[in-house]
Amino acid sequence: MRLIFLGPPGVGKGTQAKRLSKAYCIPQVATGDILRAAILKGSAEGKEAKAYVDAGRLVPDELVIRIVRARLLEDDMKDGFILDGFPRTKEQADALSQMGEASRIDRVLYFYLDEETLVSRIAGRRTCSKCNEIYNTDYRLPKVKDVCDACGIFLVQRKDDCAETVKERLIVYQKETAPLIEYYQKQGCLSCIDASGPVEEVARHVTDICLVMS
Ligand code: AP5
Repeated sequence: MRLIFLGPPGVGKGTQAKRLSKAYCIPQVATGDILRAAILKGSAEGKEAKAYVDAGRLVPDELVIRIVRARLLEDDMKDGFILDGFPRTKEQADALSQMGEASRIDRVLYFYLDEETLVSRIAGRRTCSKCNEIYNTDYRLPKVKDVCDACGIFLVQRKDDCAETVKERLIVYQKETAPLIEYYQKQGCLSCIDASGPVEEVARHVTDICLVMS
């Protein structure tokens, strides 16, 4: 199963991608996680990406395309994958379609949600900087306050989750990424998912789509 998860910031793409990745034993390729790890490591890619990520703007297409192209050629991608947060521009989508058999996509799952709920979910998000597990101060609490269940380290609030940057990310999403809804609709491979329900309910919609495909 080769999937793209598309949708605005905070809609729950990462949460659903992690669940599906475990259930179907296929890798989640989250460009946001890859970029944050590169920034933390201080690699050349991280240094290039930092200012963009911190400001809530998109990292240049060339850099993200290079990262995804290399990742798609790795061995664990052969039996399927979930691209979470890529593509995000028409240029990235075009580049993906030209990456050959490795980049063949079965379905694009578009998650939608009203802006007020997006903003509130982002405000409550806490993440583990080691394993990238996602928590929420309202919807998904760790067993011990502010500590990752799996790693035992303190959870953090992403720097780009502050109110000002979230505003910018939502604007960038509408301008650069939302046009991909029509792009994939025209290709007949888009499924729309109402992401307003609880995590389990959204996961059921996702599984239903996957069952039809398999
Ligand atoms: P990225 O990390 O991809 O951020 P995003 O797309 O803005 O998405 P988010 O991670 O904010 O949200 P999500 O949909 O995964 O929601 P989540 O599951 O966490 O990108 C960050 C930055 O990296 C970009 O701004 C850009 O700079 C750069 N970048 C990345 N990819 C790029 C690309 N392709 N090109 C260029 N630049 C790129 O859920 C959110 C919260 O809600 C959590 O707290 C969660 O617990 C909670 N939640 C989830 N589902 C539910 C539910 N059903 N009910 C209640 N709460 C829920």
